Amino acid sequence: MKALVSLRDVWVEVGGHTVLEAVTMEVGEGEFVSVVGPNGAGKTTLLKTILGLIRPSRGEVRVFGKPPWELSRKERARIGYLPQIQEIDPSFPLRAMDVVLTGLYGVLGYVRRPSKREREAALEAMELVGVRDLADRPIGELSGGQRQRVFLARALVGRPELLLLDEPTTGVDPAASEDFYGLLRRIQEGGVTILMVTHDVGVVSRYVDKVACINRSLVVHGRPEEVLTDEALAEMYGCSALFFHHGRAPHMVVRFHRKEGK
Ligand SMILES: Nc1ncnc2c1ncn2[C@@H]1O[C@H](COP(=O)(O)OP(=O)(O)O)[C@@H](O)[C@H]1O
Ligand SMILES: [Mg+2]
Repeated sequence: MKALVSLRDVWVEVGGHTVLEAVTMEVGEGEFVSVVGPNGAGKTTLLKTILGLIRPSRGEVRVFGKPPWELSRKERARIGYLPQIQEIDPSFPLRAMDVVLTGLYGVLGYVRRPSKREREAALEAMELVGVRDLADRPIGELSGGQRQRVFLARALVGRPELLLLDEPTTGVDPAASEDFYGLLRRIQEGGVTILMVTHDVGVVSRYVDKVACINRSLVVHGRPEEVLTDEALAEMYGCSALFFHHGRAPHMVVRFHRKEGK
């Protein structure tokens, strides 16, 4: 299988601290992979590294076969990104449609007059994620689940091949979260490769092909048919309890890459 994303022995420093240490993983074309791990584990940093927003101090990152910071504008447009969501001021003066359109041409808040084709693309993306009827509603008035679908439509409006999502179900109730994962699964079936950061390990295991557990230096990474050892679980704070208490979920995970010298 062709890898759309690969990291080999990647080290990242932020503000003088090592945030990622010797991370090795890949995301194959067409896969739905989830990244889990405790707060501060470096999950957002991992996505930013894949996006080329942060350069590693050591190791190799490849996206579509290239270092991400060398991707052209056109290649960059093959990646859709749903950033970790901040609270939105209820009076934020954008309609859902405007938010989706920013996915085509820039940062949130900057809206030029869209072309007919852009509006159609936005409506299509909203239709795909089930929020077309909310197009004219102010984003601040929507529920958490509706808002996340609007942000998903924003990430999808450029028809990306690779979708990166950072904790997309934060602030979304459990039933709506499951609907959201089901929707992502259908988007995957439509040919999109997905890498998603989430806290929802147990639930998400029913939807994803692979899980990567990350805690700065240690990544557990693998397919459902691989075996997760007790020892690995014990080392994976944030993962262990979740894996054990979801007996009905498919066995997830895992071969894991230890730090050198361990
Ligand atoms: N801009 C920054 N300056 C200094 N430290 C940062 C910065 N961004 C992240 N960090 C630190 O890097 C670590 C990993 O952060 P992050 O990738 O956001 O973790 P996660 O998304 O898993 O919660 C944390 O210890 C965080 O405090
Ligand atoms: Mg984060």
